[in-house]
Amino acid sequence: MSPSPALALPFAAQPLGAGTLDPARSRIAVLGAGVMGPGIALTFAEHGFEVDLCETTHSAIDRGMASLEDALRLKEEAGLIPSDLANATFERVRPHVGSEAALASARLVIEAVTENADVKRAVYAQISQLAAPDTIVWSNTSTMNVFALADEALRTRLLVAHWFAPPHILPLVEVVGEPATLPGLVDQTLAALRGLGKAPVRLNKFVPGFVINRLQRALGREAFYLLDEGVISAEDLDVAVRTSLSPRMQLLGLMQRYDYTGLTLSLRNLADPAMTDAPLDTQPAALVERVERGELGVSSGKGFYDYHGRSLIELQRERDEKLWRIMRSLGDFAQDPKPI
Ligand SMILES: NC(=O)c1ccc[n+]([C@@H]2O[C@H](COP(=O)([O-])OP(=O)(O)OC[C@H]3O[C@@H](n4cnc5c(N)ncnc54)[C@H](O)[C@@H]3O)[C@@H](O)[C@H]2O)c1
Repeated sequence: MSPSPALALPFAAQPLGAGTLDPARSRIAVLGAGVMGPGIALTFAEHGFEVDLCETTHSAIDRGMASLEDALRLKEEAGLIPSDLANATFERVRPHVGSEAALASARLVIEAVTENADVKRAVYAQISQLAAPDTIVWSNTSTMNVFALADEALRTRLLVAHWFAPPHILPLVEVVGEPATLPGLVDQTLAALRGLGKAPVRLNKFVPGFVINRLQRALGREAFYLLDEGVISAEDLDVAVRTSLSPRMQLLGLMQRYDYTGLTLSLRNLADPAMTDAPLDTQPAALVERVERGELGVSSGKGFYDYHGRSLIELQRERDEKLWRIMRSLGDFAQDPKPI
């Protein structure tokens, strides 16, 4: 992927006056270099943008840059990006402790800071104070109504653009504005994301958790219930999902599957009184017991599976390497899955 004029993004063409977000002229500030920030920064840099990646401490930005570089080298090793372009991409990302300088020159700010209302509110106040009055802000929040955290002027230029981990690999970005959003800005954002090779979807209104996290929550509620009831083990549940829902969903999504099942049968199944739903249990034993034992997932060496002896970086690498293979095998269908 080389920097290309085709990627001149139509930002600001209508509501925000002259100027476009194109790689030659627009700097991107990514605030937060935790799990998400580095992959988002990488995506922009690969498409020719100069990116300022900002954190609060030296150790946090060092970790973020190491994670970005690792993700880039993995692409290089997999033959997905030539070495010279990988090196140029890395050069385009500048690490910062503090975000003052980056905000002063950013055309677009990606807010990927901690999922905490006070932290985000403080970040938006800083953006209002330091960034140009037509700077666009995309929040990567997973669940929150961030619009309520920004002042009136910023609110018109703030959107949710919710990426999925790992953000440099998975194509989906959920985009949502609100009634105060400048006309045309959602459309411009969708176009900009397509220019970055992503597959954005528009949400017509804000709902906490957006769409995919709500679906995951619904599935998790049933999964923890089935584990707590001793119906199935965690390992067998994953085998079942990987060998049925997963490949079928790749092709049919969620809704087209109903067409193939038949809507009469789908309605009958939904109305079946014997098919009771799991109650909402916010403290399922399957989770609570593990958390109490300090089994927190890959970061602690154990969760539902045992990862002892392998570092977090190794585990993420293995996931990403296999995920890249899956995405490659899907070809164009990964970004642009068509219904049958
Ligand atoms: N982790 C995921 O899988 C995931 C997926 C999609 C969306 N998100 C959302 O993306 C955002 C970031 O998530 P994450 O998982 O990367 O969080 P994280 O906790 O891993 O990283 C957040 C980083 O933000 C930094 N930070 C806090 N205040 C800052 C400031 N003022 N300036 C710069 N950096 C600051 C923190 O030091 C921290 O390193 C959250 O809103 C989260 O809900 C996360």
